[in-house]
Amino acid sequence: MTHHYETFGIEFDDTNLMGPNAIKLAEEVCRHLDLQPGMKVLDLACGTALSSLFLAKQYGVTVFATDLWISPTENYQRVVEAGLEDLVYPIYSEAHSLPYADEFFDAIVCFDAYQYFGSDERYLNDYLIKLLKPNGQIGLAIPGFSHEMSDEEIRQCGENCSGPDDLLGFHTSQWWQELWGRIRAVKDVETFELACSDDAWEDWIGSLNPIGQEDTDFFRNTDALITIGLIARRS
Ligand SMILES: C[S@@+](CC[C@H](N)C(=O)[O-])C[C@H]1O[C@@H](n2cnc3c(N)ncnc32)[C@H](O)[C@@H]1O
Repeated sequence: MTHHYETFGIEFDDTNLMGPNAIKLAEEVCRHLDLQPGMKVLDLACGTALSSLFLAKQYGVTVFATDLWISPTENYQRVVEAGLEDLVYPIYSEAHSLPYADEFFDAIVCFDAYQYFGSDERYLNDYLIKLLKPNGQIGLAIPGFSHEMSDEEIRQCGENCSGPDDLLGFHTSQWWQELWGRIRAVKDVETFELACSDDAWEDWIGSLNPIGQEDTDFFRNTDALITIGLIARRS
């Protein structure tokens, strides 16, 4: 039987999870941001938009729920069901061709996806940052490891994982701190380990999503798996 979740007034089931529970990741990361009603927020690579619904419901912000793999029509149905169509706008876009004006957003958030396109500092520096207002906020949750591993070690520990190649993009919080520390376009960079990480991953592997079930051995046998919170502001 499908698991049914109800968190912060948002109802969803297993089929909506695409990895560690996005609402739990968003809840913890957003506690470090100052989000006010009326602010415009980019939820980059939002997947099924669970985090976008959370942001709108919890903070009254306007969310541009942007994703590549999940259709905006599917996300819009979820938005309407949640009664949030005045606050959440589903948009289809690849992360390098976002259809937004420079300095449009008060905040940019991204949960369990930044590692797919953001490990090269040029993505932030040369592209993403310009969409944010000066002093605008960034909040990310990025899966990673508690210590750096060689590609060989990563391959071994990821043998049973659903996306072994994805793990090659996993790093430590120190790695992200150093990378972002070099980028002049941002300031007040802080990284930390999310306390909800194991819980969020348990929801994923306990879900009926076959990809989540494939990740069970990997999750159970890898002590090093963490989720990194990253907070910063545009300079
Ligand atoms: C593991 S899912 C996470 C989705 C959601 N943020 C969550 O936490 O449930 C990764 C998401 O990244 C998006 N993604 C991957 N590469 C992307 C790219 N180049 N541009 C835009 N989105 C991308 C996919 O569409 C997918 O929905």
